[in-house]
Amino acid sequence: MPLKFCHFWLNLSRVWGLVMTTGGRIMNSPLVTLDEVEKKNCKNGSIKQELLDGCVPFSHQVAGHKKGTNNTGVLQHPDGSILKQLQPPPRGPRERHFYTQVYARACTDKTILDLQQHLPNYYGTWAPRESPHELYLKLEDVTRRFSQPCIMDVKIGRRSYDPFASKEKQHEQISKYPLMEEIGFLLLGMRVYQVTSDSYISHDQFFGRSLGKDTIKSGLMQFFHNGQDLRRRTISLIIEKIQNILHWFLSQSQLHFYASSLLLVYEGAYTPDHHERSLNSTCGSTGEMEEEAVEVKMIDFAHVFPSDCADEGYIYGLRSLLDTLEQILMD
Ligand SMILES: Nc1ncnc2c1ncn2[C@@H]1O[C@H](COP(=O)(O)OP(=O)(O)OP(=O)(O)O)[C@@H](O)[C@H]1O
Ligand SMILES: [Mg+2]
Repeated sequence: MPLKFCHFWLNLSRVWGLVMTTGGRIMNSPLVTLDEVEKKNCKNGSIKQELLDGCVPFSHQVAGHKKGTNNTGVLQHPDGSILKQLQPPPRGPRERHFYTQVYARACTDKTILDLQQHLPNYYGTWAPRESPHELYLKLEDVTRRFSQPCIMDVKIGRRSYDPFASKEKQHEQISKYPLMEEIGFLLLGMRVYQVTSDSYISHDQFFGRSLGKDTIKSGLMQFFHNGQDLRRRTISLIIEKIQNILHWFLSQSQLHFYASSLLLVYEGAYTPDHHERSLNSTCGSTGEMEEEAVEVKMIDFAHVFPSDCADEGYIYGLRSLLDTLEQILMD
């Protein structure tokens, strides 16, 4: 194993050890936790935002853990960033370590530096004043610059479990979506703005799990339909972004990603007028202006591991997703 992987691995193990103890302390902390705050607030009939240091439930979450009685999963900080609570060890510390490594000031590894553009910015950890041991990852909100964001979370890869998963965990993950191996991705959730009704259509993970080989294309297509038109130009821009991520994966052999997602976002408040303005614009090419309107970022790094070969599972998933998007465009 090359030296840098050993370092990554050693650091990871150290962090696990360290944070596992911290994790224990969190669990046994005599301090009030956000869960308790939420339960109390629920009894009182409302979320008292000052108890959450002004943080509110993130309204643009489309998948993942939704904890607590008020369904607060991801939170939004008053400064616009989002807060993802550290999952219990080893997942939370592993994800934190991943972000710390990728955004380390001293990092000179070109592969890792190149990865940054495909991730939300990381602003370190955050904890509520009332509960300083309850740690959150502070991240850039990928949806922030959109006025009516259409958002989809797509899990990528042929396996949703990591190499250290127990037999039970493996079975549990496979049974959730046995087609993952063949299709290489799973739609975990989406919300799509409908221009016709000025409202959103949402789908949860059960929609994604219901899609088979014959229906995956039409399922994916729903994300790009605004009630009136299929957003073909948006699909092309999303394809370009995914291709960039694929290039990164083809260039690296030091990390493997399991159960990780792509977060796809585009502007739902899009009208022919806006398009017309873009076409006639003198302050930049159409491509540049349209480029502004989509985001594809990798998220959810609780199962990222050092490796010494290409991440074939993730690459398979990206290619399969790209193929399906291209098929939609060919129809
Ligand atoms: N940086 C981000 N910007 C905008 N939305 C985000 C961001 N990160 C996460 N989200 C939203 O929160 C949801 C859940 O995030 P994520 O997948 O990281 O957590 P999770 O699946 O609950 O965690 P884990 O699998 O680590 O236990 C995503 O589907 C997305 O809607
Ligand atoms: Mg997730």
